[in-house]
Amino acid sequence: MLSFSDIHTIGVVGAGQMGNGIAHVSALAGYQVLLTDISQDALDRARATVQKNLGRGVKKGRMTQADADAAVGRIRFTTSIDAHADAQLVIEAATENPDLKCKIFESLSKLVNPQALLASNTSSISITMLASHTDRPERFMGMHFMNPVPVMKLVELIRGLATTDDTYQVVRAVAEKVGKTTVEGRDMPGFIVNRVLMPYINEAVQALYEGIGSVQDIDTGMKLGTNVPMGPLTLADFIGLDTCLAIMEVLHNGLGDSKYRPSPLLRKYVEAGWMGRKSGRGFYDYSRN
Ligand code: CAA
Repeated sequence: MLSFSDIHTIGVVGAGQMGNGIAHVSALAGYQVLLTDISQDALDRARATVQKNLGRGVKKGRMTQADADAAVGRIRFTTSIDAHADAQLVIEAATENPDLKCKIFESLSKLVNPQALLASNTSSISITMLASHTDRPERFMGMHFMNPVPVMKLVELIRGLATTDDTYQVVRAVAEKVGKTTVEGRDMPGFIVNRVLMPYINEAVQALYEGIGSVQDIDTGMKLGTNVPMGPLTLADFIGLDTCLAIMEVLHNGLGDSKYRPSPLLRKYVEAGWMGRKSGRGFYDYSRN
């Protein structure tokens, strides 16, 4: 079993908003990082995003340009999943699709060092189920970062049924080294954060659907009334409405209680392709940003 001091290289699968954030904080903490994606475009965008976000820290005087450049220099951007053969911990951060994630873990099992640890950044899919698609369920964990990764302090840790305590301790130490505070949630749909957050967002969409308030009134009401940084509809646009819907489906199907049914309006927006910030339109219009 690898110990914390054996972890030098972290693999990250998927260069989207979560994957590039995980690569950013890992490289900044001194790890060598392998960031892989099937799309070269996604990797190019990830490099630009990491450079831009590290640049915020340089502007604020939190690091020098040389520190930022060194961090980017520790990240290898590649379309070859085989690169993960060199990693001691591989974190999967692909789209929230169970079949895709299972396929990725089946591939990783064949090529990653048998002693290495595997983790998923899934926000709600069963860790025990994903672990069963690897050759090492005892060295598998849920490692759920929040968006934007460089800013948000939390990593939610989830053990699958077979995860050993040694695996948990190593993964927790890595999360702490990259500057995060950890909480442990049970392997039940949505874990802690999305079990509480998504019904709140879904209820805000339902309140809009029922005409309880306008988009602005619901958001301003919750923002100023409960002191959160973003109102729930702004946050839904930020997370992505397709992701919010996918998580509500996991809660609804996995817990079997009708109180988790996705709002029909959330479903309608996703059908329209109005996914929030990333598509230029959600509850707000971002087309001119
Ligand atoms: N990368 C790095 N730094 C970033 C950043 C990014 N992508 N976005 C913002 N920042 C930094 C800014 O540089 C700024 O830094 P300073 O405080 O040093 O000045 C700070 O964050 C605040 O940014 P802004 O002033 O530009 O804007 P803001 O005050 O509106 O903050 C925000 C932006 C941090 C996103 C804030 O609105 C916020 O915290 N929103 C809530 C986010 C949230 O709840 N995330 C969790 C979503 S749930 C999830 O991720 C789980 C899931 O499974 C769905």
